[in-house]
Amino acid sequence: MTFSRQIKIAPSILAADFANFGAECRAIEAEGADWVHVDVMDGHFVPNITFGPATCAAIRPHITGFMDVHLMIAPVDAYIEAFAEAGADLISAHLEAGPHIHRTLQAIRATGKKAGLAINPGTGIDSVAHLLDLVDMVCVMTVNPGFGGQKFIHSQLDKVRSLRKMIGDRPIHIEIDGGVTVETAPLVVAAGADVLVAGSAVFKGGSVANPAPYGVNIAAIRAAATL
Ligand code: DX5
Ligand code: ZN
Repeated sequence: MTFSRQIKIAPSILAADFANFGAECRAIEAEGADWVHVDVMDGHFVPNITFGPATCAAIRPHITGFMDVHLMIAPVDAYIEAFAEAGADLISAHLEAGPHIHRTLQAIRATGKKAGLAINPGTGIDSVAHLLDLVDMVCVMTVNPGFGGQKFIHSQLDKVRSLRKMIGDRPIHIEIDGGVTVETAPLVVAAGADVLVAGSAVFKGGSVANPAPYGVNIAAIRAAATL
């Protein structure tokens, strides 16, 4: 895939029907999703548990496009190979997940997958500067990770602007994760983001039996993000 800063909407299946992941992934892609965002939580790094590599492998055949796996787990390194084998296209690890994020990013790259670096709202971008040659994406958390449906933290916009300057013309995506809605989408795009994760704002009002609202919601976020 050639690098582009065109806006990509990445619905998070954290807001999907957990008993119907396959159908939900097919539905969001049919309704206009660019990427599928998969939130892995371990009940240790974050105070919630979702699922692991076996579930990722099970949903992979139901995704025709790009599978964006966000690991909110610590430790990370022992599981990278399993998520790569499960079919992730990009694997993001958190800067805060351990003392050796540089090694973790090297390990992700060694699998042949794209590497993402996720940063919590309380984390600055000074250390990101030393990792840019190892990443394909920086994921700026605009909520504290662990749950969907939280309120967007506006103070993160300054961080996104600084990060965008720091990245310059390097082929590195900036992803925003948390609280993305039609109201906040234009703010994050103006600040420099190009990948917008949205859970509740995409899945609200729809279901596997009635997926049309997903398309309406994705189109509304995309329109709001088109400055
Ligand atoms: C939060 C997850 C997000 C979450 C976003 O820890 O990483 O991907 O699903 O959900 P919304 O869009 O509902 O804030
Ligand atoms: Zn996420």
